[in-house]
Amino acid sequence: MNILIIGSGGREYSIGRALKFDENVEKIYFSPGNGATDELGENLSITDFNALADFVEENGVDLTIVGPEAPLVEGIVDVFKARGLTIFGPTAKAAQLEGSKIFMKNFLARHNVPTARYIETSSIEEAYRFIETLEAPIVVKADGLCGGKGVIIAKSHEEAKKTAGEMLSGNAFGEAGTAIVIEEFLDGYELSVFAVCDGKDYVVLPAAQDHKRLLDNDEGPNTGGMGAYAPIPLVNDEIYRKLDERVIKPTLKGMEEEGMPFTGVLFIGVMVVKGEPIILEYNVRFGDPECEELMPLLKSPASDLFYKAATGDLKNAVIEFHDKYAVGVVMASRDYPYKSSPPAEIIIDEIHHEELKENAHISFAGVSRGEDGKLYATGGRVLVCVGLGDSIKEARDRAYMLVGQVHFAGKQCRTDIAYQALQEA
Ligand code: AMP
Ligand code: GLY
Repeated sequence: MNILIIGSGGREYSIGRALKFDENVEKIYFSPGNGATDELGENLSITDFNALADFVEENGVDLTIVGPEAPLVEGIVDVFKARGLTIFGPTAKAAQLEGSKIFMKNFLARHNVPTARYIETSSIEEAYRFIETLEAPIVVKADGLCGGKGVIIAKSHEEAKKTAGEMLSGNAFGEAGTAIVIEEFLDGYELSVFAVCDGKDYVVLPAAQDHKRLLDNDEGPNTGGMGAYAPIPLVNDEIYRKLDERVIKPTLKGMEEEGMPFTGVLFIGVMVVKGEPIILEYNVRFGDPECEELMPLLKSPASDLFYKAATGDLKNAVIEFHDKYAVGVVMASRDYPYKSSPPAEIIIDEIHHEELKENAHISFAGVSRGEDGKLYATGGRVLVCVGLGDSIKEARDRAYMLVGQVHFAGKQCRTDIAYQALQEA
């Protein structure tokens, strides 16, 4: 099977890496890919959806997998499906679950899926009135895609009002801020739950936990994610059962009833509050860096999962996971997440340690190949060091051993990834 992967991050690298080990896969293409995906396959630079579909037809590509949300929201799946091509991801209509927070919140209300109390409004007076009914802290969100930066957790009523005013007047987020969501703050622990769906059937992957803040102890600014691990020992069968019955089933049924059956990855952002899973958000793609830990945990062939989901055939798939833990530590560039950093050469020590060679690897993200053939850190999140083990501690120790072998000027990473799991142990 020949496969095209759309995207350029560590997430897409990790999907490509899983497919590379899959004997059903012959050739892998990435568009655009990054400076390291050319070791797994061939990088293309085609952005137009019809031109990509032409490439797929001309080169015998059997399956296209879409990594990021932007092409999904823009309708890449609709273009491919109209041309009879097999593609893994939701249609533009279904992708609204991520593309618009207001659509998502209204969908949750229609289908009785538990979520925080909220209003959507473009009226400052209404926003103020609702803020008065909540206790601080208060969450204020801009509608639309703001690259994860559209969420402010205001510590006081005054700050919430000020933020709401700025978003509505368009100062803070431009177009994306013309309507806002104000929401009750949920106090609990956060999970990333992924259901791979074929429109009817689904497979739930081991629950993962991301670390969104830049610094140790969850301090500093929000980022795209500084590290993750899976599975989470905190999540017991009871929580999986509640997630299945109260969230995943009603969501997929609702999507089908509303004429937009969901195919692809449903990423459910969950806050567990006193043992009850409450939905924070949906995304319509794999999380990054969660994907980098989940892909190596997949025991059955990756092509089976993606192809069968894309062709509505998951009921005939046997999807298995290794009985192991994975921990991923993101190494970011000097000025992340504030601004871009000067390119820095990446040097990786040769690894002699057998245990590390077999149980740890790198998923490359914001990297470019220089004319000298060397790899340079050119993006915000540069790479993810992933360790596998029979316990979280073993997996984490291996991930950090690998971090110690990777060098570039200005590198930064958290030193406490998976701390919540280790505290509980
Ligand atoms: P969102 O883009 O809506 O997922 O929000 C980004 C992050 O903000 C989430 O991953 C949470 O860490 C935090 N967050 C969002 N909404 C809430 C809420 N209602 N209560 C607590 N934290 C929240
Ligand atoms: N890691 C969170 C996200 O991908 O949105």
